[in-house]
Amino acid sequence: MTSSAAIGPSRDQVQAHRGTSALAPENTLAAFRKAAEQGAKWVELDVALSADGALVVIHDDTVDRTTAGSGSLGTLSHADIAALDAGSWFDPQFAAERVPTLSQTLSALGELGLNANVEIKQHPHHRSLEQLVDAVQTAIKARASHTEVMISSFDPQALRAMHLRQPELEMAILWGRPPEDWEAQLASVPASAMHVHYKALSIGLLEEAGKSGIKVRAWTCNNPTQLISFWDAGLTGVITDNPALFLK
Ligand code: G3P
Ligand code: MG
Repeated sequence: MTSSAAIGPSRDQVQAHRGTSALAPENTLAAFRKAAEQGAKWVELDVALSADGALVVIHDDTVDRTTAGSGSLGTLSHADIAALDAGSWFDPQFAAERVPTLSQTLSALGELGLNANVEIKQHPHHRSLEQLVDAVQTAIKARASHTEVMISSFDPQALRAMHLRQPELEMAILWGRPPEDWEAQLASVPASAMHVHYKALSIGLLEEAGKSGIKVRAWTCNNPTQLISFWDAGLTGVITDNPALFLK
């Protein structure tokens, strides 16, 4: 009797969420290095503007949770943010980590052989969508040619604006649960992928998406058994805090 091999993702299908944020402070170069050490090929990271228009890699619209400082990105300059310890909150061994810019991050990813899922955050202090996407475009255009980039966002307008600038890049709409009219919303960007909360996955959704040639990735899943039935049904990828769990 033969048994079928366990179904699981390939290396290209696993993305380290904010880097390997289970083992290093999120959205720091240490977290991205950890992803490379684990053999990941992709990292997901979040970008937003500082008060003076620098594009920094950070999830929240304040520095309170992930640095030793405090305050809103909308009131802090890049110099203010860059001076902060972005690692001690996680573990004292990471005290030297800083909040990197997207440019610094893409440069490091190029050296590490990692590709980037750049999630554009929209925060209340962002004054202009144009300023935001211009900053993303500038950083992306300067990356090493071997570094692949995809863009994701909960904000379809940000994706639309990015698509107009860089139509060759994959665009992914982020949803907790996809809306009824997901196909129309994807077409309006246009986006060729949706990134959905893993609890919103269903075989039916994957089949429907597959018929339309739409990729589906699941966030943020840290237990491979929760996705086991979905790979065979066409799941494109997973965004996880710890890629090693999926890269066995
Ligand atoms: O890319 C998926 C995930 O990063 C979306 O949620 O809040 O972790 O940025 P969040
Ligand atoms: Mg994110």
